[in-house]
Amino acid sequence: MKTYITVLSAMFLLATGASAQRTTGQIVSDAADQLRYQASRIPEDGKFPRTLVTDYSIPEVAYHLERAPKDFYPETGMAKHPSVKDFSTVAYVNYHDWTSGFYPGSLWLAYEMTGNEDLRDLAAKYTNQLLPVSRKKDTHDLGFMVNCSYGNALRLAPDDSIKNVIVATADNLIGRFDPKVGLIRSWDWGKWNYPVIIDNMMNLQLLFNASKLTGDPKYRDIAVKHADKTMRNHFRSDYSSYHVVSYTPDGRVESRGTYQGKSHDSAWSRGQAWGLYGYTECYRETGEKRYLDQARNIASLIMRKNEAPDRVPYWDLDARTAPDSPRDASAGAICASALIELSTFVPEWEGKIYRDYAMQILDALSSDKYTAPKCANGGFILMHSTGSMPQGSEIDTPLNYADYYYLESLARLKRIQDGKTPGDWDRIAGKKIRKSKKSK
Ligand code: GLY
Repeated sequence: MKTYITVLSAMFLLATGASAQRTTGQIVSDAADQLRYQASRIPEDGKFPRTLVTDYSIPEVAYHLERAPKDFYPETGMAKHPSVKDFSTVAYVNYHDWTSGFYPGSLWLAYEMTGNEDLRDLAAKYTNQLLPVSRKKDTHDLGFMVNCSYGNALRLAPDDSIKNVIVATADNLIGRFDPKVGLIRSWDWGKWNYPVIIDNMMNLQLLFNASKLTGDPKYRDIAVKHADKTMRNHFRSDYSSYHVVSYTPDGRVESRGTYQGKSHDSAWSRGQAWGLYGYTECYRETGEKRYLDQARNIASLIMRKNEAPDRVPYWDLDARTAPDSPRDASAGAICASALIELSTFVPEWEGKIYRDYAMQILDALSSDKYTAPKCANGGFILMHSTGSMPQGSEIDTPLNYADYYYLESLARLKRIQDGKTPGDWDRIAGKKIRKSKKSK
């Protein structure tokens, strides 16, 4: 596939493989319009757009899982849906949902790239509605929720009230670290004794940021312990990862398997993307070569196993590769964002491989095959993500985190072009935090 993007050239141009070519500026401007459209439709304060409601039939899901319907129902608890697809309803969530930070985060990223103040105002408005998250203790997803919202606010509109939210949330996140197990607990529900999911790697940035803001290494130390033990126990010899590893109270592995992937032994696409992103981030924050090596190995696993012709992965890297196999645009966007950053940590010949791969994903996502027409798709930027196939949930539909990591990929390219580091969280270190009005 021809890739049009020129990352480090004077002309920052991303044109799509589809007939209508758009410059990166137009792509970002169109995406910002979608976010504005979403804001105009949000029914009440405290609600955040997550996805469009879709229903799938059990035989349809069984086909993609390559299992007989009787073999997985009712184990998953999936309701018997009629075979309908209703793309007309936006599903909104409140602050408790793990995805609540992505819509405010997307607004921050759109503001970063455009400088449009209305986007900053919307970003601040929806970020402030997440304040109660800083009191939550019942999930590991606090990093997603608060770092994407308040974390981006800290980079782009710093204020010392933001620091308080980040540190309070980080305190609650490290409260989920059991020293006997040596990991942060992911879920408080389900059949597992002490479940840790690969997604949890994404919550560590909040802890690195909390250490930088406070000067207290305790947050960072826990992040490092979590990353190291995950590296030991979540990965197979080919560097693909299990989704869920559960531990005994004294920290031994109790079980390894999946919840959202095709099978316990498969490589669930988004899980591989979370791992790639998480270890790239750990390398940026610590400079420890073991994390860089882990990220490189995961990157080659993904590039080797991803059989999607346009590089936007099928929902599981071991899924059917038939044209009707649902894609996961969110996994593609997360990979693209991670690969762009990883490309800056390795020799140029190797970086070019990662960058070219990321550009192929972004080229595809920016085409009309994945980018929705304006004011359609519930205002979500991208189509064709998959939330959880075994649960029959959010299949071939938009997801707010696909939009977030797609915009972050574009923002990372812009940062590189502007002479900044693509990760950009390093700017928080030593940043002078402006006094909030209240504390003046
Ligand atoms: N963290 C949940 C997911 O990736 O679906």
